[in-house]
Amino acid sequence: MSIKLESVVPFGRSFDEYQLMFNISEDDLSKSILGVGDGPASFNAEMLARGHPVISLDPLYELSAKAIEQRFYQVVDDVIEQVKTTPDNWVWSYHKSPDDLRKNREKALKCFMKDYELGKLQGRYAVGELPNLVGKKDQSYDLALCSHFLFLYSDHFDYIFHQSAIQEMLRVASEIRVFPLVTLSGGYSSYVEPIIQTLRADGFNVGIKNVAYELQRGGSEMLWARHP
Ligand SMILES: C[S@@+](CC[C@H](N)C(=O)[O-])C[C@H]1O[C@@H](n2cnc3c(N)ncnc32)[C@H](O)[C@@H]1O
Repeated sequence: MSIKLESVVPFGRSFDEYQLMFNISEDDLSKSILGVGDGPASFNAEMLARGHPVISLDPLYELSAKAIEQRFYQVVDDVIEQVKTTPDNWVWSYHKSPDDLRKNREKALKCFMKDYELGKLQGRYAVGELPNLVGKKDQSYDLALCSHFLFLYSDHFDYIFHQSAIQEMLRVASEIRVFPLVTLSGGYSSYVEPIIQTLRADGFNVGIKNVAYELQRGGSEMLWARHP
């Protein structure tokens, strides 16, 4: 049995989770970073607190903090219930249980909400969506990150969308990292291999890295691609 979702859920992860998912090093922290589809993650707020402002883009950012919070609470019980009924699909090493997972998602949401309105004024949270990062100049970031959107929602967004989205991320950044490579059903996305072939044919350096974060069983790999 797999998780079934009508649409993309507004769940956010913490700085600590981003660091593990994307294998972010000390050197990476001082790079100019774009988070694509950051949603209500606390990565942006926590990076600012560490003295490293980053830019987050998401279509969700046309909403107020209150409206994003409402969306979160509309779906959280259903998602956690689905997690509880699919025990074999999850690894409880980072989050200790479905209830701990819920607690950690709420903690990230609260941290995001505290930072959001000011961050919007400062331009750290901006409305934007793949596959067209409108207004972003070529190669304007060192690193673009995308977590829990591309590949995960392979049943909602087709191959052409994924290819265009990843090419667009590489247009605006020197390097991109995408996590995880599994879908909501828990299987490897069938888009990963053809995307890798296409990027290699376009001359990019591409690879898959095993990282120290696994919540969906089998979902501990990140795709990276760099300009040569
Ligand atoms: C599951 S959340 C993940 C949030 C964050 N990256 C994290 O891992 O904590 C997926 C996010 O993708 C955003 N999203 C939906 N469609 C998008 C698009 N076309 N381009 C970029 N982000 C999109 C959603 O609004 C949502 O905030």
